Amino acid sequence: MTSSRRDFIKAGAAIAAGAGLTGCAEAEKPQALPEPKAHQPLEILVLGGTGFIGPHMVREALRRGHSVTLFNRGRTNNALFPDLETIKGDRNNGLDGLVGRKWDAVIDNSGYVPRHVQDSARLLAPNCDRYLYISTVAVYEDPMSAIDEDSPLATIDDETIEKVTWETYGPLKALCEKRAAAEVPEEKFTILRPTYICGPGDRTDRFSYYPLRTRKGGEMLWPGTPDDPMQIVDVRDLANFTIDCLDRRISGTFNMVNPPGSFTLSDLLEDCKAVTGAEVEPVWVSAEFLASHEAGPGSGVLPCWHGSGGRGVSGDRAIAKGMHHRPERETARDILTWWDTLPEERTSQPRAGLAADKEAEILAAWKESQS
Ligand SMILES: NC(=O)c1ccc[n+]([C@@H]2O[C@H](COP(=O)([O-])OP(=O)(O)OC[C@H]3O[C@@H](n4cnc5c(N)ncnc54)[C@H](OP(=O)(O)O)[C@@H]3O)[C@@H](O)[C@H]2O)c1
Repeated sequence: MTSSRRDFIKAGAAIAAGAGLTGCAEAEKPQALPEPKAHQPLEILVLGGTGFIGPHMVREALRRGHSVTLFNRGRTNNALFPDLETIKGDRNNGLDGLVGRKWDAVIDNSGYVPRHVQDSARLLAPNCDRYLYISTVAVYEDPMSAIDEDSPLATIDDETIEKVTWETYGPLKALCEKRAAAEVPEEKFTILRPTYICGPGDRTDRFSYYPLRTRKGGEMLWPGTPDDPMQIVDVRDLANFTIDCLDRRISGTFNMVNPPGSFTLSDLLEDCKAVTGAEVEPVWVSAEFLASHEAGPGSGVLPCWHGSGGRGVSGDRAIAKGMHHRPERETARDILTWWDTLPEERTSQPRAGLAADKEAEILAAWKESQS
């Protein structure tokens, strides 16, 4: 594994581990989405519909008049969709409840282990018209190169490994894609590769860190330079495109990412200020200095930030098929609205970002180094 790949993946370690307007008179209005066209109602099976991204997909499918069946173990957010049929089972040798059933489309959200994806694709492909696998941009071998969907994928020497760690996550997802592709005919197979998925319901708190920290105001450490790029995808845009793929029978592989260079840290800062109305004084701390305090690009301490390097991941192929990216300001705004609905025991322990004492420590050291 290259060191750039290792650093890049480490920054997304939380992936492998996992798991109204808020005072924002200046926030942009949500951009009107085109009305969905009339569709054939579909029967959709969602493998993993109760985590973070699944519920957004389920709600979008229901909004369009489709019917949804859920498949999961019954451990996560059980009360979320009481009116939907839920088939209980474990992807680890527990697919019995799916045997003999047919659906128009399957959304595979919860596939991290190649054997699990192979088993479900083998069982379901003959009984559905579309199998859509949620993969990740972590599948690419060289995260610092200019990436499109045809870029080389990471591999793993021992293909029997099933333990998902920050190191195996990407190669295993690439292998999951391969195993599914061997079972599902090309014309009914779709792969979506999202980058950092952000928005209401995000359980990693990575992108959420920035608006939440900005809201506290005062001196705030910002990493690198204002021109450093950030690539994300809003979970609701991902959900819309996912259901579009089912409705419009879109096959193929698509990165789910805002265009490279379209969004920088200074844009994020302006968005965070606009949606919080907070008085914040940014202090830009160099990547090198942060690295010497174990908070550099690739450490994951300043989430979703990879310094100024990297040439970016292209999302053009999906955009050409109608993928719509809402303004990131809307994502930041809606995260705050959602966050304010959560219980204190959840909000008191954010899962990502600089802790206040660490931020103060680095800021003090940085200022001393500059004096
Ligand atoms: N978050 C990101 O930024 C990001 C970026 C790129 C790609 N992705 C991809 O997005 C997907 C993750 O989505 P998520 O965060 O919404 O879900 P998740 O937390 O990975 O999965 C949760 C869902 O899957 C079910 N599930 C988990 N393990 C299962 C098993 N062994 N058998 C049956 N059901 C199981 C859970 O229900 P039970 O617990 O009740 O079983 C729940 O419905 C993954 O494919 C990931 O690779 C995420």
